[in-house]
Amino acid sequence: MVGRGFLGCFILCLSLASVCAVKGTLKSIDDLKGIEFGHTSPRHGLMLLHWLANNIYNDNKGNMRLNFNPARRDYGFHFYGNADNPHLLPILPYQRGNYYSLGNLADNNNNNDALALPDYVTQRFYNSRGPENNRDRVILRVRDEGSNQFIVDEVYVTQHYPRNENRGSAYDPDNTYRVNVSLLRQIQSLPTINLNYILQTYNVEINDNILEHLQNTWRDTPGLALLLAIVLYFTRPKTLIKDQAFGLILQSKRVMEDKDNTLIKLEVKTTNRGKARIIWSGIPKRLLDQGVMVVLYKSNNPDSKSELDRSSVGGKASGSYNTSVPLNPGLQVRLHKEVKTWWNYLGFGSPTGEEIWRGSEFHDANREIPVDINGHDASLQLFVKDGKACARLYVKRSFTDWKKTFNNSWVGFYSSAGTLDHNTWQWAVKFSEESRSDWAGIRGCNVYVYESSMTMSPGVQARFILEKSGGEKARTPPWERFVQG
Ligand SMILES: *[C@@H]1O[C@H](CO)[C@@H](O)[C@H](O)[C@H]1NC(C)=O
Ligand SMILES: *[C@@H]1O[C@H](CO)[C@@H](O)[C@H](O)[C@H]1NC(C)=O
Ligand SMILES: *[C@@H]1O[C@H](CO)[C@@H](O)[C@H](O)[C@H]1NC(C)=O
Repeated sequence: MVGRGFLGCFILCLSLASVCAVKGTLKSIDDLKGIEFGHTSPRHGLMLLHWLANNIYNDNKGNMRLNFNPARRDYGFHFYGNADNPHLLPILPYQRGNYYSLGNLADNNNNNDALALPDYVTQRFYNSRGPENNRDRVILRVRDEGSNQFIVDEVYVTQHYPRNENRGSAYDPDNTYRVNVSLLRQIQSLPTINLNYILQTYNVEINDNILEHLQNTWRDTPGLALLLAIVLYFTRPKTLIKDQAFGLILQSKRVMEDKDNTLIKLEVKTTNRGKARIIWSGIPKRLLDQGVMVVLYKSNNPDSKSELDRSSVGGKASGSYNTSVPLNPGLQVRLHKEVKTWWNYLGFGSPTGEEIWRGSEFHDANREIPVDINGHDASLQLFVKDGKACARLYVKRSFTDWKKTFNNSWVGFYSSAGTLDHNTWQWAVKFSEESRSDWAGIRGCNVYVYESSMTMSPGVQARFILEKSGGEKARTPPWERFVQG
């Protein structure tokens, strides 16, 4: 046994040391300054890294852990085969984990799990055009320890080649770096850091105006403003933030406009009749004075041009509008100028003028990741389709006798977390296997769904009941009744 362990270790070290193309290791925020990753707007790399640092935690043995499952595609993680030649990353010895890549926001299927990432990561993607907004990726090397325990052995940042260079869809090894845990810790500590410390450590002086501006823009995400201020301060002259840092563009009207546009929030929520409800806020006075409207579209897809519903914001910076459109994943609200001509007043032509801003697409599972079914290698997720409450069961492939174990199990749909009586239900074994082209990318999981007849509304909950051997084994967070992280 000792000999085998030693050999395993030897192979591991060998492969880590030599057979890969990684450029170097990033140990501090300072190291992010000199690389290309995430620097120019609208790239989303720094937001991804910030999100990761805040969603990875250290256990008491010094391991980095996740409280979600990248193999299940949570947050849009994809399996990465490291099959390029030469290999981008070190070859992993058998059963020493897998690589998963995060950050592809343009995964064109109707269940783009990356949409579960918060708005601050996706906002630039929706509000810019062209391939630059989807180049950056974070890659994790993850070991599945069973029972939903995942250890992260390595973190990398990387990027696709620019599209116009015609160098294919691989990642660019010259822009691939290993991330030391010390960098993640620095990012974690940014919300509590004081500015003198930044001056000494990063040798940047942050002008109060800039900081205030950045903090306004990213106010819901503590620490992100500082990360951007530090990393972008000395870099490429053309980046928006750097120019702002020098107060140059602050005078430019165009940027002032972009600046308050980033405060606009456009969301799709649920009415109590399973329809899409539009919520808006943060619309600047400049736009209110011109007249603007909220318009609902099927998705962010470029061919999704037909309006499903629309409403004037009626001069209100924030408000809501209940549409008659059944709730479905992908729905998106866009803010448009309102065309007010006599022609329109007479009811001719469309009042929908120039587009100003886009909200996130409504996410399939309302940003909820599946909940574990206690004591079993399976999990449960609530989602919506055509305004109805639906549930998904993720069953680990190694759980081969699940149909036997769950023979008497059922999933109930409840109108709220407080009710004891279900509204409707279905046997777990009667769920049908979900056919989705992209499930092929799901590692080690089978997915089963049931579409109930219950109308989705805020508060609806699914519970998993393992009849015989005792009661409830899982309950989802009530629909739209939790604080989004
Ligand atoms: C990460 O950085 C720490 C110091 O911050 C160092 O001790 C450690 O060796 C580094 N690890 C790697 C893999 O570079
Ligand atoms: C819109 O939907 C919400 C949520 O169901 C509800 O509370 C509100 O009363 C509705 N507003 C109107 C005007 O119907
Ligand atoms: C559970 O198993 C029994 C016999 O093995 C079968 O008759 C019954 O239909 C199964 N239950 C369900 C919900 O499939």
